[in-house]
Amino acid sequence: MTRMIRHRIETAWAVALKDTGEYLGEVEITNIVDGYLGEIGYMFLQEHWGKGFANEAVTAMIEYAQNVLNLKRLYADIENKNGRSIKLIEKLGFEFIAVLPESNFYGRIADVAYYSRTL
Ligand SMILES: CC(C)(COP(=O)(O)OP(=O)(O)OC[C@H]1O[C@@H](n2cnc3c(N)ncnc32)[C@H](O)[C@@H]1OP(=O)(O)O)[C@@H](O)C(=O)NCCC(=O)NCCS
Repeated sequence: MTRMIRHRIETAWAVALKDTGEYLGEVEITNIVDGYLGEIGYMFLQEHWGKGFANEAVTAMIEYAQNVLNLKRLYADIENKNGRSIKLIEKLGFEFIAVLPESNFYGRIADVAYYSRTL
């Protein structure tokens, strides 16, 4: 709860296997501004990468942001060397806007790619 307040997390889902309930990862919408713009973030356990789970869960969260939260635009900040995340976000229709060199990436310095898409 404290983490949710600190990061202004509006919606956070734990993602689990339907059959067994095994935990796979998380998807969240944070930093909503004016009921219009939100940030999307996600994290999956490494043993579950490359199986399409992130794609399925992030797609569902994008639909939720559009149909339930009524947001009009989403953005994602991604470390520029995070090829898997960039592949995923581009597959989901986000547009590359720019790399922000040596930015504050959750408390450490990194080159951050900014992606955005309308809903
Ligand atoms: C970023 C991250 C979520 C991507 O996860 P992922 O498992 O690579 O993403 P997907 O679920 O979309 O899997 C895609 C791969 O699964 C394959 N796949 C297998 N079965 C699939 C299916 N049924 N449907 C879709 N894709 C499938 C795809 O072909 C694709 O492989 P490819 O990359 O070789 O083309 C994951 O690497 C991660 O959690 N990283 C650590 C945290 C992180 O970096 N978060 C982002 C911070 S910005």
